[in-house]
Amino acid sequence: MKKVSIIYWSGSGNVEVLAENIKLGAERVGAEVSINQVKYAKVEDVLKADAVAFGSPSMDNNQVEQQEMAPFLKNFKELNMENKPTVLFGSYGWDDGKFMESWEKLMVEYGFNIVGKLVVQEAPKDEEIENAKNLGELLGK
Ligand SMILES: Cc1cc2nc3c(=O)[nH]c(=O)nc-3n(C[C@H](O)[C@H](O)[C@H](O)COP(=O)(O)O)c2cc1C
Repeated sequence: MKKVSIIYWSGSGNVEVLAENIKLGAERVGAEVSINQVKYAKVEDVLKADAVAFGSPSMDNNQVEQQEMAPFLKNFKELNMENKPTVLFGSYGWDDGKFMESWEKLMVEYGFNIVGKLVVQEAPKDEEIENAKNLGELLGK
C-alpha cells in the first residue's frame, strides 16, 4: 500500500478543497493518506511517504505562501529527496498560475520529481475537482 502525504496552506479554503479531493483520489486506489495543514506538518511526514502533494495559493506578489509553506519546504534543501514523486497544486487570483512555474523550479532544485501540477483560479470548478482526484490516483497507485 502506498503512503501519500498531502501538505497544504489555505487561507480561504480554495486550496483546501483541492487537497481534500487529492486525498479522495488517492484513497480510491487504496493508498494510505495523511493530510495536514503545513503548520502541523513535520519533515517526517514527507520523508516517510512514497509520494507527496504540496498545495499553496499564490501570495505575496505571485509566490508560494511565504510565512509557513516556504520555510517548511526549505527544510528539504539539504536532504536527499531521491526524486520523490510529487504533485504541486494551488490557486491564484490574478497571476494566471505563474507562481507555479517558479515554485516548480524550486522543488526540482530540492530534488523532488514533479509528476503532476494543478493550478486553478480562485475556487476550483467541477472539472478541476475531478483533475485533483485524478492526481490523487496518480500518487496513490
Ligand atoms: C493576502 C493575499 C495575497 C494574495 N496575493 C496574490 C498574488 O500575489 N497573486 C495572485 O495571483 N493571487 C493572490 N492572492 C489571491 C489568492 O491566491 C487566491 O484568492 C486563492 O484562491 C486563495 O486560496 P485559499 O482560498 O486556499 O487561501 C492573494 C490573496 C490574499 C488573501
